[in-house]
Amino acid sequence: MRESTRLAFRITLIIGAFLFIGLTFIYLSISIPIAFIVGVFFVFLSFAFWVIRLYIENYIYQKISVIYKTIHFQLRNKSKNSGDRKESFPSIENVHHEVMDWGEDYQDQIQELKRLENYRKEYIGNISHELKTPLFNIQGYISTLLEGGISDDSINLKYLSSSEKSVERLIKIVEELDTISSIESGKLILDKTRFNILDLIKEIFYLYEIKAADRKCQLIFTKNYVNPIFVFADRKHMHTLLVNLISNAIKYGAFIDGKVKIGFFDMNENVLVEVSDNGPGIQKEELPRIFERFYRTDKARSRDEGGTGLGLSIVKHIIEAHNQVINVRSTVGLGTTFAFTLEKD
Ligand SMILES: Nc1ncnc2c1ncn2[C@@H]1O[C@H](COP(=O)(O)OP(=O)(O)OP(=O)(O)O)[C@@H](O)[C@H]1O
Ligand SMILES: [Mg+2]
Repeated sequence: MRESTRLAFRITLIIGAFLFIGLTFIYLSISIPIAFIVGVFFVFLSFAFWVIRLYIENYIYQKISVIYKTIHFQLRNKSKNSGDRKESFPSIENVHHEVMDWGEDYQDQIQELKRLENYRKEYIGNISHELKTPLFNIQGYISTLLEGGISDDSINLKYLSSSEKSVERLIKIVEELDTISSIESGKLILDKTRFNILDLIKEIFYLYEIKAADRKCQLIFTKNYVNPIFVFADRKHMHTLLVNLISNAIKYGAFIDGKVKIGFFDMNENVLVEVSDNGPGIQKEELPRIFERFYRTDKARSRDEGGTGLGLSIVKHIIEAHNQVINVRSTVGLGTTFAFTLEKD
């Protein structure tokens, strides 16, 4: 029952009590047929009920109309976009529901803003941490060199080359952040062309041949692909993406007898590309986070490898810019597989 109906009902009951006393008095004083008295009683009460109810609703509306109009307007605008809300008669119940909807909506938005705020704090913290480490290293080496180390042949070249490595690391971080921010600000303009992805992968295998051989790791296809596999994508960005996945598979794959395998699966309009390794794998609870900026599962190993934790974030952005999907599955002790789709051509 609506709130206004309930209130009108209560007021009508009170009026009814007085009316009953009045009519009883009239009945006892003048001789009027009882049926007439009862008829007057119910007709009057029904009439009073509807008038009171209307009056209450109008009164409440006047009081809350400004707030209601704002909320109702916002919700209506929203529902126009989603097309799922019907235009409803404005009653106290509707106001109640709309205010509740509105409250829930804003609660969601507040939660989302809080999440973004935490993310922003974490992100800034991560950037400063990542920049601080190489900067302090450089400062330490330079100070030692200036304090006389420059004439000590046993350390001068070593410290200079270590400083250079730290500078390279700083440049890598800045370049990767630059790539991410240009992708996020929509500056990533794809130059999609038709190319044979097998050729691109062979080029990358060639680039990483020495690094892989150093680790006794094999770079192979899952089978002998004889026919070309044409895709429609941005070749330069696909190069970046595959370099990251393949270099990750070499870096974080098996320490001995590593195998990095690439396979393809036909999916009607798309082709599914899989990059697998037989490394130690990634813990289940870490899997959803590895595409986050600066996230590294094994921080020490990753940093030793020169990793910044930005590579997979770039990979994800590239795939999303192509309107495709990427996912990862991993079994600890067995290996990891990254799978992504590309448009066939
Ligand atoms: N094939 C893999 N096997 C196990 N762990 C992996 C694999 N690929 C990525 N990871 C984990 O995910 C983390 C994030 O990878 P990502 O490529 O984003 O960063 P990175 O390799 O550390 O640095 P960058 O790619 O910027 O040089 C890595 O640090 C590593 O811990
Ligand atoms: Mg990487």
